[in-house]
Amino acid sequence: MKIAIIGGTGDQGFGLALRLAKNYQVIIGSRRREKAQESAGRIREILSSKGIPYRDVIGMENREASREGDIVILSIPFQYTLPTIIDLREELKGKVVVSIGVPLASAVGDKPTRVVLPPQGSVAQMVQEYLKDSKVVSAFHNVSAKVLESIEEPVDCDILVCGDDEESKRKVIEVINSIEGCRGIDCGDLEMSRYVEQITPLLISLNIKYKLKGSGIRITGLRR
Ligand SMILES: NC(=O)c1ccc[n+]([C@@H]2O[C@H](COP(=O)([O-])OP(=O)(O)OC[C@H]3O[C@@H](n4cnc5c(N)ncnc54)[C@H](OP(=O)(O)O)[C@@H]3O)[C@@H](O)[C@H]2O)c1
Repeated sequence: MKIAIIGGTGDQGFGLALRLAKNYQVIIGSRRREKAQESAGRIREILSSKGIPYRDVIGMENREASREGDIVILSIPFQYTLPTIIDLREELKGKVVVSIGVPLASAVGDKPTRVVLPPQGSVAQMVQEYLKDSKVVSAFHNVSAKVLESIEEPVDCDILVCGDDEESKRKVIEVINSIEGCRGIDCGDLEMSRYVEQITPLLISLNIKYKLKGSGIRITGLRR
């Protein structure tokens, strides 16, 4: 299975690619192909230098990456999400699209410890409204890029997953569970994503208060 990461050159996309490349073919997407290829090369270099086996990691322009990926992760800042997905709408038809965006108020020059909610209630619902022919699943909001990129340590975080299509959610949870230390938890319909997205500003606030690299969450009482 091929996983494409739109904006995979950025912090969160790069960290996810590092983790996912162990078990999946990963395509880094960028607005510029050379930038994507450079990031893919860095991922191969990091994994090779640490003796971590990996599948193929390649870089492509976002449109090509969207076409190639079976699962497509949107890893772009909130404020650029709509123009990007509208532009890629044709390529994303029929795909499982993973929305990881958090509507941080820093997008409008305010604090990253606050949110500015899109009218749909969450980034994931906004994405689904504009990508009617894609199956949107929301995930990876509460795990930080810094934790993901510390590839030698397991990730200590549950990943809360929301979506309206059961089969797509199952696929994404399988991908999440392939990451050492991550546990994917089905949290119900896509509309639940508004609560999951709003946990992240709290985690950012804890990171600031306690000078943490990247706090995460665990749900207790669940048997796997
Ligand atoms: N960072 C975290 O710890 C973290 C944690 C949880 C969730 N998230 C979510 O993950 C997503 C990515 O976060 P990030 O920190 O990785 O962001 P980022 O590094 O600031 O940006 C990611 C990528 O977005 C692309 N981009 C920038 N401006 C753009 C524009 N005008 N139009 C289209 N694409 C543009 C860039 O790729 P190219 O220049 O290569 O096209 C960039 O590398 C966000 O939605 C964020 O809420 C982040």
